[in-house]
This record gives sequence, C-alpha cells and structure tokens, in this order.
Amino acid sequence: MTDADKDYPGHAHARAILDNVRDAIITIDGDGTITHFNRAAETMFERKAADTIGANVSELMPEPYRSEHTRYIGAYRDSGVPKAIGRIRDVHGQRAGGEVFPMELSVAEVISGPNPIYTAIIRDVTALRHATEVVRERERLAELGAIAAKLVHDIGNPLSGLTMRVEHMRRLADTPDGLPPEKLRASLDHVRNAAASMNALIRGFMDFARGQRLQRSKVDIAALLSVIVDLWAPVAAQSNASIVLDTGQGLLFVHADAEQLQRVFHNLIRNGVEAVAGGCGKTVRVSAELSDGRVAVSVCDDGPGVPANVDVFHLFETTKPGGTGIGLAVAKQIVSAHGGTISHRPRAGGGAEFRVELACGDEIEGPRA
Ligand SMILES: Nc1ncnc2c1ncn2[C@@H]1O[C@H](COP(=O)(O)OP(=O)(O)OP(=O)(O)O)[C@@H](O)[C@H]1O
Ligand SMILES: [Mg+2]
Repeated sequence: MTDADKDYPGHAHARAILDNVRDAIITIDGDGTITHFNRAAETMFERKAADTIGANVSELMPEPYRSEHTRYIGAYRDSGVPKAIGRIRDVHGQRAGGEVFPMELSVAEVISGPNPIYTAIIRDVTALRHATEVVRERERLAELGAIAAKLVHDIGNPLSGLTMRVEHMRRLADTPDGLPPEKLRASLDHVRNAAASMNALIRGFMDFARGQRLQRSKVDIAALLSVIVDLWAPVAAQSNASIVLDTGQGLLFVHADAEQLQRVFHNLIRNGVEAVAGGCGKTVRVSAELSDGRVAVSVCDDGPGVPANVDVFHLFETTKPGGTGIGLAVAKQIVSAHGGTISHRPRAGGGAEFRVELACGDEIEGPRA
C-alpha cells in the first residue's frame, strides 16, 4: 500500500483491480501526459510504469500518429469534438522494442473541464488477428483447390478451339489458293481475342491466388478515389455518362494497403461504368463519408441493377460476354484482409449500390484542427 492509498483506502482497492485486469489501462491528462500505467500496460508496451508515468502518450504510438498526436489532443480540447472517445477503435500501438501491434482502444473522459483526465483501455489483438488469418488462409487454400478445376475447364475449352482453328488455317495455307485475306483477318482476330481473354482469366486468377499480404500505410481515401475517377471518366463519357465524386469536406484516412485498395475501387468503378454503358444509365456516383467511426465508400449507378440470382462476390461469376467474374471476388478478398466489409444493394430508383466500409485510420489522432 502506498502513502496515497493509506490516505484514501478506496485507492488500494481500485489499484488492485487495475493491476489485475488483462487489459492495459492508461490514464492521461489534458496534455497527453501519462499519469497511470497498470501492470497489463507494462507487459503490453514492454515498459515499466515508473519510466513511463510522466511521458507523453504519443510515445506508445507508431509514426505517423506519434508526431501528430499532440496537435490532435489540442484540437480536441479546443473544439470539444471527440473522435477517439466513447467508442472501441482498431488502432496500432508500439512496444518499447519497436514492434507495432494491432490493438482495440476505448477512451473515456473521466474528468472534463479545464484539467481533463482520460482513461484508455487497450486490448492487444495480435493473437486474435493471427488466428483469424490462419483460418482465412485455410479457407482460401480449400477454395483454390476447387476453383483450379474450373480454371482448367474454362481455359481448356477455348484453348482446344483455338488449336483447331490454327490447324485449319495451317491446312488452308498449303492449298493452292491459300486463305482469302478477309478470312485470314477474321481468323487471326478470333485467335487474338481468345488469347487475350485467356490471358485476362489467368491474370485475374493469379491476383486471387496470390493472397493479400498487406503493406499498410496511412491512405487518404479522397485522393485515391479521385485518381481512379479521373481514369474512368473518359470511358464513361463515351457512353454519354458521367462519374460524380463526393468526398465531403473532411479528410478521411484509412490504415491500408494503397495499391490493393486501388484495385478494389478500380473494380467497383469499372463495374459501375460498364453498367451505365450503351445508354443503360447516366451517372456513376462515388462518395466517401465517415459513418459510425468507419470510412464508408459507396459506388452507385443508375444502370440495370445486379441481376437476380447472381452471387457477385463468387469467383468466376459473370454475366458479361467478355467478363472474367474475378473483379468482385478479388475486391472482397482485399477488403476482408483489411478487416472491412463489402456489400451491395439495389439503388432506390434503379441501379446498384456497392459499399465498402473500413476502419477509420486516424481515430487515435482525434479531430483535425
Ligand atoms: N454495378 C453493377 N450493376 C449491375 N451488375 C453488376 C454490377 N457490378 C457487378 N455486377 C454483376 O456482378 C458480376 C460480377 O462482377 P465482377 O466484377 O466480379 O466480374 P465481371 O465484371 O463480370 O468481370 P471482371 O472480372 O472482368 O471484372 C457481373 O458480371 C455483373 O453481373
Ligand atoms: Mg468487374
């Protein structure tokens, strides 16, 4: 029992509880200075309470949050708009040895006013994430086995057709008159198109089979979407349609693999553009917003809508003559690897809406000034 505990017997009881819970419990003041660091926090962050109390809480975070955190606390104090407070957040911490780990964070404001005190309860979810990844990997391998047979079938058929056509051309080449140029051209076009579609199938399959090893960084969703929209806008314009981008005023960040996310939104926006092509619709609307602490991106079109009975996220499921049916299967795989969700529903008034939700990447930072 410390001297303070003798003065306030309730303290000893509270301290015993704090030091025996499995979650890390850290108390900070309004400047972010750590005032209490329980035993579980010592284990989790590999730091002694005696060396940590008095330090700034940003020391427990990886970059870029570490450098920015103090500014965010100040912004919160000034604006009073909580972001990290009152919710469970998926964020990252950093141990003294440098290891960055995933954690669930919930912050409560214990005392408000000019000298506020916050309590953060932190759960290390490294083991949980690892277990989830192992299960996902096993499921993926099982699925790969089943679809390999389908791939052989889907490539085997056009390949034997292709071989027969080339043999036919070869035979005709040996006849006195050979092949008339227009027939030769048509046959070569056929060969080229069949080869291109098989190539697309194989590439898409490789995307799927590769699995998703994520290289996460802080990604500005609005900037990422704007690059993709610019790329597809001219294609939409060819069908007299347009793509509208609405990402609101605030900055939306996710902690994600930018390249992989780009592929997700490429697929969704391309599907939207394909849905409105040929006069089937007028507009593809891409929007991003903060929804319940998550970043929600919606890609909405006024095309014909998803046909009934089409399991859009299933590998090789396609209703398009030149489609591979891989786009959304890969998109789902990438979004799941990020711990996010992807879904679709009919758009009111006709068309389809696809929605991706990802954990917000700047939750630990608090609001922007
Ligand atoms: N915006 C949309 N409107 C209507 N149907 C859609 C839309 N997006 C997807 N679909 C349906 O889902 C199917 C699967 O989409 P997915 O992107 O996985 O494959 P694909 O577009 O057919 O081919 P690819 O692999 O080349 O993208 C499509 O063939 C289509 O039937
Ligand atoms: Mg597609």
